[in-house]
Amino acid sequence: MVASEPKPELISEENLFIQQEEETFPWTKQWYPVAVIDHLDASYPHKIQLLGKDLVLWRDRNNKWRCFDDVCPHRLVPLSEGRIESDGTLLCAYHAWRFDGKGNCVKYSTIKRCSHRS
Ligand code: FES
Repeated sequence: MVASEPKPELISEENLFIQQEEETFPWTKQWYPVAVIDHLDASYPHKIQLLGKDLVLWRDRNNKWRCFDDVCPHRLVPLSEGRIESDGTLLCAYHAWRFDGKGNCVKYSTIKRCSHRS
């Protein structure tokens, strides 16, 4: 008995076009509407997803809506779990680092020296 070789999968012209477009279209270099501003509450950050990526929308002290990766650069936790401070910065809920509308870390907590040794 001779083992039969698998037949090559037939791809229609339309599917081939879609496949080629997906391989070449720069999906992450486009503008997308992600929310209706009138539906957003500016008093807290909003978690959203776009193209499978977690993002956070929030309004800074200049009343500009900002969209960041939903990740704190300190320990990679979601910034959307934080809050908007009275000075218009986005505060990370975990260690209270604060970020301005341009993404700069403008304040970070200091860690007290531990007196115990491991
Ligand atoms: S994880 Fe965000 S400040 Fe530490």
